[in-house]
Amino acid sequence: MKRRDFITCFGLGYLASSLPEKVVAYAPETTAISSTSGDWQPVGTVAELDKTGQLLNENSSVGSVLVIGTSKSKNLVAVNPTCTHMGCTLEWLAEEKIFLCPCHASEFAANGNVQMGPATKPLSNYETKIEGNLVIVKRNS
Ligand code: FES
Repeated sequence: MKRRDFITCFGLGYLASSLPEKVVAYAPETTAISSTSGDWQPVGTVAELDKTGQLLNENSSVGSVLVIGTSKSKNLVAVNPTCTHMGCTLEWLAEEKIFLCPCHASEFAANGNVQMGPATKPLSNYETKIEGNLVIVKRNS
């Protein structure tokens, strides 16, 4: 192996090993979002939601919110994606339609109900709607 090939290979290997396995959290750009009235609060934009079919805002004014769906969905789903067992951030598995905890494998239905422990408490969920270019949520009581 030539010196130049070795350096290129080593450099790419180092770069690849230093990257995170995947991006878990996505902080949407919400600086242009104005607040809405009442209990409804903006958590991101329609463009952000439509990009991947998921919108995670861990720092919204109502707490951590994960919205599932797109602007064309009839029913948007929004939950607090913090696992009720020990607080890990859940992942949405679209094919299975479940929220899965990467820490101890608790599973939650789309409505937030526990399907498999060790978690025993359901997730908080939110009413969700789109107004203009904003995705807004309201805590269910
Ligand atoms: S933190 Fe989620 S199952 Fe333990």
